[in-house]
Amino acid sequence: MNSTIIGVGASLPLRCMRNSDLPGDLDTSDEWILQRTGIAQRHIADGETTSLLATRAARNALIHAKISPQDVDLVLVATSTGDYTLPATATLVQRNLGLRGAAFDVNAVCSGFIFALDVADSFIKSGKFRCALVIGAETFSRIVDWSDRSTCVLFGDGAGAVVLRAIDDDERGVIFCKIHSDGNYAHQLITDGGVSTTKDAGLLKMSGREVFKFAVEKFHESLMELLAENQMTVADVDLLVPHQANVRIIKKLVELSGVDERKVLVTLDKHANTSAASIPLALNEVKNTVFSAKNVVLLSMGAGFTWGSALIRFQ
Ligand code: UT7
Repeated sequence: MNSTIIGVGASLPLRCMRNSDLPGDLDTSDEWILQRTGIAQRHIADGETTSLLATRAARNALIHAKISPQDVDLVLVATSTGDYTLPATATLVQRNLGLRGAAFDVNAVCSGFIFALDVADSFIKSGKFRCALVIGAETFSRIVDWSDRSTCVLFGDGAGAVVLRAIDDDERGVIFCKIHSDGNYAHQLITDGGVSTTKDAGLLKMSGREVFKFAVEKFHESLMELLAENQMTVADVDLLVPHQANVRIIKKLVELSGVDERKVLVTLDKHANTSAASIPLALNEVKNTVFSAKNVVLLSMGAGFTWGSALIRFQ
């Protein structure tokens, strides 16, 4: 028994903020942001909540999968910007769509989607559940410090979702998923303001260069681990979807691994870094390519630090 993706959907806030629309007192420029990150624009929630974006993305994924909401028995939302401290955003999505079964959130920040995929895949392989909505949804615009040019220009809001269903085929579907964390790096990328430490809402702080270095190292290490454990080479990868944080991180990965650049998906120019939503949002951009590919590889790195990889075989 395996699990496989049978539908993909996404949702972005209506408001699109180009680099030139950023607050005038930020002391930045379109040129700097494009050259140093590859980001040209981001969508910013204006009243759209994380649960609303997640619900819309999930609904679109269900339509794409052509299945009834009644078939879903598990809802996972990967997010670190949920609507409430409690309950989980996943339960709000479950209510909005009238779904049954279990619903809970997974917080592994930018790696959240791969962590949630691994959880859902493991549940399905164990026989506990048969059909899961795995959603990445974030509203980072609410936690960035809009006076800090080194972070606020990097992030955007949005949601992406996949429908993951059991299949009686060991050769296709989620073939491999590996997740890692190292809490020694917790303070390198942090949003304070947790209810047990303070009553104030927190703001995101990041040691950009350290995170950059770690992301390059772990993207490369995770890809090599995935290839070795599945007796594959880079030539066997048909589509590589890395977490979308900075195009220079992706270029370094291409340089180090030798993977063909044309097989590497880059969508951060349009969405910026949407944390847990970035991978499913990217998958949604190339739906047809995804389903006709043989080996699709996902890679992530995020706060914690967390990192991980997944191999999904469609043909
Ligand atoms: O999703 C989780 C993973 N997150 C990431 O992967 C992010 C990883 N880090 C990065 O992408 C990059 O480190 C940044 C984009 C955050 C920064 O790029 P950098 O090339 O590492 O810049 P830097 O931090 O070395 O700063 C270089 C200069 C500094 O000015 P001085 O000190 O040389 O005068 C910064 O103040 O660039 C300045 N700077 C800016 N200038 C114009 C930083 N941000 C901006 C900005 N506009 N937005």
